[in-house]
Amino acid sequence: MMRPMSKSSAEIADLLFADACVATCAGEGDPLARLDVRARCSVATAGDRVVYVGPREGAPTARRTFELAGASILPGLVDPHTHLVFAGNRVDELSRRMRGEDYRAIAAEGGGIASTVRATREASDDALFELTAARARALRAFGVTACEAKSGYGLSLEHELRSLRVLRRVDEAGLLRVSATFLGAHAIPPERRDDRARYVDEVVEEVLPAVAEEGLADAVDVYCDDGAFTLAEARRVLTAGKAHGLAVRAHAGQFADLGAVELVAELAGLSADHLEVVSDAGVAAMAAAGVVAVLLPGAWRTLRQEAPRAERFREAGVAMAIGTDLNPGTSPTADLPLMAALAVRDAGMTIEESLLGITTAAARAAGFGGGAGTLRVGGPADLAVFATPDPRSLAYGLGGARASLVLLGGRIVVEAAEPLIW
Ligand code: NIG
Ligand code: FE
Repeated sequence: MMRPMSKSSAEIADLLFADACVATCAGEGDPLARLDVRARCSVATAGDRVVYVGPREGAPTARRTFELAGASILPGLVDPHTHLVFAGNRVDELSRRMRGEDYRAIAAEGGGIASTVRATREASDDALFELTAARARALRAFGVTACEAKSGYGLSLEHELRSLRVLRRVDEAGLLRVSATFLGAHAIPPERRDDRARYVDEVVEEVLPAVAEEGLADAVDVYCDDGAFTLAEARRVLTAGKAHGLAVRAHAGQFADLGAVELVAELAGLSADHLEVVSDAGVAAMAAAGVVAVLLPGAWRTLRQEAPRAERFREAGVAMAIGTDLNPGTSPTADLPLMAALAVRDAGMTIEESLLGITTAAARAAGFGGGAGTLRVGGPADLAVFATPDPRSLAYGLGGARASLVLLGGRIVVEAAEPLIW
């Protein structure tokens, strides 16, 4: 006897997000075409994959349907630059800075990054994990499903490994997809202040091999700047990291242009970050090597610096991403949509560019492949729903754009009732 026709389980989706305004970020061409905003569009997922994007009429039957007329869907947002693992806070330091003291002067006398290093080393393993996990959840509340995250507040073999293990744990616990970066060259630790050459040797000869051996990092970073590491030191660290198979990125041109951008380009790195000060030659080198410019509005705002001009990167053909730079010294924020809004106001990015800057371009900068930062059939079931009829509202409202639903690998990890007011 013939059994009645029924859809096989493969044809039945798990979740259907119906009739929303969807920005797939998977188009081609100019930023508007790439953003690819589709009215009354539906997205279906099965397991950890997107299985359908299109009009509701063609959508598969799903076990659960969300009626989303009047809401927007974006791919899960990607934060391409965070310092997620640290303990302590530096509100006293901000208070001093707002009264006129200089960031680099405070750092030079043992405050700044070094004070966070002390607090981070003192925290127990559990406390450090819980603080990091809480920040991962804070990012997620704003629609972020993947982030780049750095060590750099441990600054010793033991504590750098510990920070990177915390990041692996956040990723493995399914809190957030984490691309981990080894930033042993963030500052000279207090115990090596009188022997910086020895510290750079340790980073290159001891810590980096141990990090690589344990498979704890995807990339290597260095803070190459006035008051931080020199270009020669940066070259040693990044070249060694690359030899260990790590992707390359750098904090470059936050205060002074030491040539780090050209170095990242020479090493075919993923991104150069900050870029408040960068030469035309540096921008051209980035364009030639396909290095993404990661702009960090939280840092330039807190340091009261002039923002980089987006038009320089746009005209040269350099892709632009935007990060929170979540850190206790210069950017204590998890609000990635606010960063997009500030990049539009301060740096002159278009709204479309800014949304690509926290999705596809950010995924590229962070080294996530496989369709991360886009909504497309076969790509990861990572998406964020916002209670606004227009996805561009993320960069229109000045902060506070919390997602009403976040899907990470097909699992609902945020479900909130709060509507946006725009
Ligand atoms: O990205 N520039 C260097 N690192 C951080 C700040 C670190 C800190 O002050 O704790 C940044 O701005
Ligand atoms: Fe940073």
